[in-house]
Amino acid sequence: MPFLSAALDRVKPSPTIAMTTRAMEMRAAGRDVIGLSAGEPDFDTPDHIREAAIRAIREGRTRYTAVDGIPELKQAICAKFARENSLDYAPSQISVGTGGKQVIYNALMATLNPGDEVIIPAPYWVSYPDMVLLAGGTPVPVTAGPEQGFRLMPDQLEAAITPRTKWLILCSPSNPSGAGYDSAQLRALADVLLRHPHVRVLSDDIYEHLVFDGFRFATIAQVEPRLKDRTLTVNGVSKAYAMTGWRIGYAAGPEELIRAMARIQSQSTSNPCSISQWAAVAALTGPQDFLEPNRTLFQKRRDLVVDLLNQAPGIACPRPQGAFYVYPSIADCIGAVSRGGRRIDSDTAFAEALLEETGVAVVPGEAFGLSPAFRVSYATGEDQLREACLRIRSFCEGLSR
Ligand SMILES: Cc1ncc(COP(=O)(O)O)c(C=O)c1O
Repeated sequence: MPFLSAALDRVKPSPTIAMTTRAMEMRAAGRDVIGLSAGEPDFDTPDHIREAAIRAIREGRTRYTAVDGIPELKQAICAKFARENSLDYAPSQISVGTGGKQVIYNALMATLNPGDEVIIPAPYWVSYPDMVLLAGGTPVPVTAGPEQGFRLMPDQLEAAITPRTKWLILCSPSNPSGAGYDSAQLRALADVLLRHPHVRVLSDDIYEHLVFDGFRFATIAQVEPRLKDRTLTVNGVSKAYAMTGWRIGYAAGPEELIRAMARIQSQSTSNPCSISQWAAVAALTGPQDFLEPNRTLFQKRRDLVVDLLNQAPGIACPRPQGAFYVYPSIADCIGAVSRGGRRIDSDTAFAEALLEETGVAVVPGEAFGLSPAFRVSYATGEDQLREACLRIRSFCEGLSR
């Protein structure tokens, strides 16, 4: 009898974490490494949020809480949805978990049966397909490449839906492409979904506040109220409030699903950290004025990175609407040989050669289901970004074809 479970064979370790770990090892060995692989803001959690956590500790808010969130946080989340998304939810329709990641995992674990299909536009966040597989479902990736703005088209959605489709996962703005769906584009997808009442939508809005050039964020439950009862709208404090380590994510959806998710959570992790929950209350109800300067800073970095990467021969980098990632194509680098003698026959080979020869860590497109490309996270300082892009350009200039 094997010691390890068969479920483990269905999933691979997170490739983004693998690349970050390799970069850390090289740095520990004394190499000059610039990491463009991590998916988190490079600034600290705002002071008033940290103070709220300290206050929570002092006031003894250190015990188990209700499984899927304290009432104060659920109330703050309801107010957030009303204020920012014109969505009206009751606290019983809210679930709080240990990061958006756990919330999504709970939803899939609570709903998927063997053979159930989940439509996932590619490139996708690395965890979606693996979570679907862990939960016993079948991921159905649908290619949405740069030629279509990395967005799923309505006819593709129509073609991908089968009687076994349980969920469509939408992520806007997207990790890894940065692409956002505006309300007209969501409207067109909603029209397809209205024809297929058995399909639910998981809308991952975690990058909501990072949108550029006047792009207006929209979410599908808001665009089409008739879909609200079959949509789980996921969000969290990690990205907007620079709170990745605090581990608070949340979702709003139909009560039956929210209750089922709480059942999964109650038998796995119980409540998310009590102190972090109080910090999240402060994040959602406190001053929001730091969001705008952060957004502006990220937009400036996006422009810097897109402009510099497009100067590298063999790289074509679209300018996305949001998040803190770009997803350049390296189609024109495939088949080349690097200065160090490495054959670039895939984007993984490109990323490995780039790391070994220049000390720049990116994540290969293979991890996100759309090749040949790589993902750059520009959540790092401008000088580092400039230097990294110059190294990438030099690396590409050194490729012989
Ligand atoms: C698209 C997307 N969704 C969800 C998450 C989960 O974030 P957290 O678990 O920190 O809330 C991430 C984090 O990288 C993400 O990129």
